[in-house]
Amino acid sequence: MMSDRYAVIGNPIGHTKSPLIHGFFAQETGQDMSYGAIEGPVEPASGFSDSVKRFIAAGGRGMNVTAPFKLAAFAMSDERSERAQLSGAVNAMKFEGGRIIAENFDGVGLVRDIEVNLHQPMVGKRVLILGAGGAARGALLPFVAARPAELVVANRHVDKARALVEQVARSNTAGGSLTACGYADLAALGRFDLVINATSASLTGQLPPVPASVFSAGGSAYELAYGKGLTPFLRLARDAGVESIADGVGMLVEQAAEAFAWWRGVRPETRALIERLTVPLD
Ligand code: ATR
Repeated sequence: MMSDRYAVIGNPIGHTKSPLIHGFFAQETGQDMSYGAIEGPVEPASGFSDSVKRFIAAGGRGMNVTAPFKLAAFAMSDERSERAQLSGAVNAMKFEGGRIIAENFDGVGLVRDIEVNLHQPMVGKRVLILGAGGAARGALLPFVAARPAELVVANRHVDKARALVEQVARSNTAGGSLTACGYADLAALGRFDLVINATSASLTGQLPPVPASVFSAGGSAYELAYGKGLTPFLRLARDAGVESIADGVGMLVEQAAEAFAWWRGVRPETRALIERLTVPLD
């Protein structure tokens, strides 16, 4: 019998680490499966959903979705988890009984990396998220669930941060404070235990206009991008004396582990793989 088929779809897809990660997980847990990479067409507009349907027709069991298709994956799904609904984006799909079930594990992967791997529990802490785009949206619900005392979302376009916070406020049953602001307001807000750069600024070597006063010496700074070395954001944090600085390699592996467990019912070990994929910051 053919082994169960999975794949990641994106465009471009050349640099994806997902086949390596899931191949490693499959070997480690003894699962009989294959995991490939598919470059989905950006044109025509139906190109993405046609590719997914072809993969399903060929016996595909599940897919990871990366840029620029996370919204298109959301649109074509039949069932969506709460966190997928909130983020409006999907990074994992499962094909079952003719239906497409959609999830977004980016946020839970990030929280798990911070709390378990980096030993920085968020409960009772002051946490600052920079950015209100797709990456921040995906993270917000799992962050609220981690029960920080205070969660602030800062964005250049403050309205976007406000809209996001309002949407999540309904799920904020833990009762910590959850607010939105602009970068100019940050100087008055004091120090945060954890600052996360969820903007896309680092992809172009830029720095969000964040004042160094938000960092605390004993605290942490986390850059969602990975493999970019010491980005301007991480450099600023390090120069401000932040003890623990990290990029998104752990999040990448942890979101993959969540998807793997969801598909296969068995949770892989992540530590050895994170070590292997880590690119030194300096
Ligand atoms: P995606 O949804 O794919 O993550 P996006 O919606 O364009 O992309 O979000 C990118 C995020 O990075 C936004 O929060 C954006 O801020 P604005 O919403 O105010 O545009 C933020 N961003 C990008 N470049 C930035 C920069 N140089 N400084 C600060 N924020 C930046």
